[in-house]
Formats: sequence, structure tokens, C-alpha cells
Amino acid sequence: MKNIVLFASGSGSNVENIIHHFHDKPNVTIAGVLTNKRDAKVLDRCNKLKINGLYFNRTAFYETDCVVNILKSLQPNLIVLAGFLWKIPSGLIEHFPNQIVNIHPALLPKYGGKGMYGNHVHQAVKDNHEIETGITIHYVNENYDDGAIIHQSKTVLSPKDGVLEIAQKVHALEYEHFPKVIEQLLSEM
Ligand code: GAR
Repeated sequence: MKNIVLFASGSGSNVENIIHHFHDKPNVTIAGVLTNKRDAKVLDRCNKLKINGLYFNRTAFYETDCVVNILKSLQPNLIVLAGFLWKIPSGLIEHFPNQIVNIHPALLPKYGGKGMYGNHVHQAVKDNHEIETGITIHYVNENYDDGAIIHQSKTVLSPKDGVLEIAQKVHALEYEHFPKVIEQLLSEM
């Protein structure tokens, strides 16, 4: 049996997609979903899907062992950041070496780093008249969007695509590839 813990900060459509993917896979459990936003839509999704959803605040995350202790009790094989926007503290990374992965909505190393998340990324892609964008799934280290790359997929852009269309194309790639990459990583553990 393999355990996954998911982290998200907002809507959680990737979280829901991942939960659905593993729903009929008896050897993988979603042990919980953690969020740093008390009113995040991802918590509504967890309620609906009957998955443990937990909120933590900045103090608990950065100044206590609270989140590390919760994670230790959930015993994840893999911690998956699916739209999680806070930097992961080094103590957490040390407890779970090579067990934390993130999805970024662009082709890193382009459009990564602090402040580069969600539509900010897509706006920058649009402003630079890129002809393609995509997704990057990578291990998490102590710097934003900097760890070893596990997977990238691309999508072609049209000059007519606005931020909304770019976001839709990127989300489509995320829904298709993220669960499969997680499943592959778990199978190698
Ligand atoms: C996703 O596109 C994800 O790649 C991005 O946030 C979105 C969350 O959507 N993550 C980042 O920008 C991290 N830097 P969702 O809440 O609907 O899954």
C-alpha cells in the first residue's frame, strides 16, 4: 500500500483529478489534503469526495513542527504539491528527501521563481509571445521551482490565446499527465 498526501492553496482541480485517478486503485491511498487557505475551494472538494482536508496557518508551517508531525502520522510515500503556493521549509524537505514533488504551469526553467504562479505565469507567457508552453513536474528543493525535473509536456499556443485559453491548455496537460507521473513514481518506490 502506498500513501499520498496532497498540498494545495486554491481551487484544487488537480487534487480532485488525482483523487479520481486513484479512486479505483486499491494499492494507493490519498491519506490527506493539506491547505494553507482556510476558505480554499479544495476543502469543499475534499468534503464532497470524503477525503481528509486539513488547514494550517503560516505560524504552524514555518515556526512549529505541527505540519511535519501531521505528515509523520500520515506516513506518505509521496507528498504532492498540486497548486501549493508557499515555499516548503527546509526541515520538511529534510524529513522527506526525494519524496516531495511539485507541478509548475510552464516549461521550467522559464517562468519559474518567486511570484510565478497561476495566471501570473500565463500572463508572462502571453506578454513574451511564446509559441508554446507546458507543464513541469519536478522534485522540490529549498528554492522555488528549482529541483530536478521529472517530466515536461508541451502545448502549442496561438497568438489569439489569452490568459484564460493558455490556462485551459495547461490545465488539460496537468489533468492528463500529473496522475500518471505520480503513479509511475510510486511504482518505483
Ligand atoms: C495549476 O495550474 C498549477 O500548475 C499551478 O497552480 C494551478 C492550480 O490549479 N501551480 C503553480 O503555479 C505553482 N507555482 P488547481 O488549484 O485548479 O489545481
